Amino acid sequence: MSGQMREGHQGTGPGAITPDGCAVELYTRLAVGSEPDIIEAAVPTGASILELGSGAGRVTHSLVKRGFAVTAVDESPEMLAQIKGARRTVRSPIETLELDEDFDVVMLASYLVHTGENEVRDGLLRTCRRHVKDDGCVLIQREGLDWHTRVPRERVDPAGYTVRIASSEPVGDGVNSVHAEYIFPDARWTQTFRTRPLTKEDFEGHLGRAGLAVEAYLTDDGTWVRARPVR
Ligand SMILES: C[S@@+](CC[C@H](N)C(=O)[O-])C[C@H]1O[C@@H](n2cnc3c(N)ncnc32)[C@H](O)[C@@H]1O
Repeated sequence: MSGQMREGHQGTGPGAITPDGCAVELYTRLAVGSEPDIIEAAVPTGASILELGSGAGRVTHSLVKRGFAVTAVDESPEMLAQIKGARRTVRSPIETLELDEDFDVVMLASYLVHTGENEVRDGLLRTCRRHVKDDGCVLIQREGLDWHTRVPRERVDPAGYTVRIASSEPVGDGVNSVHAEYIFPDARWTQTFRTRPLTKEDFEGHLGRAGLAVEAYLTDDGTWVRARPVR
């Protein structure tokens, strides 16, 4: 494991597990979906991208193939060791990241903005603001509206594995504990993690406090957002 587990987060299954409960081998196996298409359509060709919480490069690798210059940040060295072709990999907590470079695009995907703790969320968003060019943009991936009510649910990926969101239970103060299962023919992983559902107003309020404002909701389900620095 890389460091101490975050409170309320847990992971089971083969190989290294990150502090937020993600299994490194699992993330090398999960297929990329529509994320690179959404990102490519939302940003300038060949943009410099700072990808926060890149994991094992599931999305990074597609972005690199499409000609983007990606700097990948993660607190897990085991995750970063899987990344190929990035301009740079940086091991750091997102909240305290201080690079001496600004980027055309900063990406905070994988629902990281829903962290249970409001101060951590504000820290993540301030990092986005600190590293984006004045004329650049920040791409954020939010949870879908029915994410916590449509449980249990499962999806069989064409690659031959099943992702099952088994439960989402309130644990107090507006935070939920989600239990996810990933079932492959030869291995099984689980992740339990804490997440805070955010209304559109909550979400936009947190952005505003970090000096960012929504420019556009990029997908019909409102999960992908492009924000701009507020001057
Ligand atoms: C759910 S995985 C997603 C990885 C990748 N974005 C993807 O879509 O495949 C979340 C990743 O974010 C990293 N992470 C979570 N919170 C972090 C933080 N506060 N600072 C740095 N890395 C973080 C974890 O180590 C993990 O690799």
